[in-house]
Amino acid sequence: SCFTTKCSLSPRPPYIPHHIPNPDYVRIFDTTLRDGEQSPGATMTAKEKIDIARQLARLGVDIIEAGFPAASRDDFEAVKSIAMEVGNAVGDDGHVPAICGLSRCNKADIDAAWEAVKHAKYPRIHTFIATSDIHLNYKLKKTREQVVAIARDMVAYARSLGCDDVEFSPEDAGRSDTEFLYQVLGEVIKAGATTLNIPDTVGYTIPSEFGQLIADIKANTPGIENVIISTHCQNDLGLATANTLAGAYAGARQLEVTVNGIGERAGNASLEEIVMALKFKSKLLGGLHTGINTRHIYMSSKMVATISGLYTQPHKAIVGANAFAHESGIHQDGMLKHKGTYEIISPEDIGLTRSNQYGIVLGKLSGRHAFRSQLMELGYDLDPKELDDVFWRFKAVAEQKKHVTDDDIEALISDEIFKP
Ligand code: KIV
Repeated sequence: SCFTTKCSLSPRPPYIPHHIPNPDYVRIFDTTLRDGEQSPGATMTAKEKIDIARQLARLGVDIIEAGFPAASRDDFEAVKSIAMEVGNAVGDDGHVPAICGLSRCNKADIDAAWEAVKHAKYPRIHTFIATSDIHLNYKLKKTREQVVAIARDMVAYARSLGCDDVEFSPEDAGRSDTEFLYQVLGEVIKAGATTLNIPDTVGYTIPSEFGQLIADIKANTPGIENVIISTHCQNDLGLATANTLAGAYAGARQLEVTVNGIGERAGNASLEEIVMALKFKSKLLGGLHTGINTRHIYMSSKMVATISGLYTQPHKAIVGANAFAHESGIHQDGMLKHKGTYEIISPEDIGLTRSNQYGIVLGKLSGRHAFRSQLMELGYDLDPKELDDVFWRFKAVAEQKKHVTDDDIEALISDEIFKP
């Protein structure tokens, strides 16, 4: 159980492409297998992608962006296999994730995406084109009028293939002219888009700015009430999680994330941070909640780290090796008295079982209370005088070593017992 909030799984509303029956429900769109795989060096085999997709389904993500089918034959096959297998497997709670394929705004990409995802129970095509002037002028070499026409025609084309779930992204929305965004988004809604994803492609916004962008889009885009607004925040300024939460607060009901926050450059908003923040701050955020089974977070993180080769730093929020470890004496004493003093999340809530109950790591900052508790766990109940002697020897060892292990403690005890 969580220490500071009531933990329970919220009911998941039925999957309807353009509409969520429960207005407080936030869809989690996981793009570990697409944007995450775009991290330098993180390429995955088809088999590895399928393994991760199965785990994402267990975790309870609503939509799995399985890849970019036009990018390579391998990716096409991986997305197709995920659509056939994971996209039709019914989970314990009756949930089947939607399977999505990315495409640029051209017919060949859209055809490839559809051919790959159409086998899923809930197939989705995600198509994108840039809308910022810098991208139009230097990358696409197109006018705004041309971009509007391409976006509208390609969303209509995707729908014409029989796909009733089409997501559109105006790439680099965070640096695009907002009046132009309202125009493009209004046109793609008319053409049949069901989710409008707003990417902060280069992670250039701050939370107040990104929240305002979502609020403005919601207030000014014709037809927006018939679709779902989504966020996709990159982490170039370290603000992806904060920006995503600001977007949810302003009305987005789909959040695009990756496990461990992997992705292009500095990565994406991290699934575990967003999900746990929504869980703890649901009340403050007006009751927003997800359908994620948080007990699968730790295993998902480990699996993605091992397969991608992108290991999390020890102090990574929620899943880092130190996220539930306590070394200073004051913190250890607090933990032994009540775990809620220094932990806002119970490790079991993310599926982590730790080697000792309190996450205590013995080192030079540890105090007598934690040391004695670790001795008791190892089966040694020393009298006060013995404890005092061993404690000072332990401190001497801790000055020399980063962490004092159970073996070190056993050695200290036998020295104490056999001392002359
Ligand atoms: O960062 C980005 O803009 C993207 C889009 C394709 C959603 O990844």
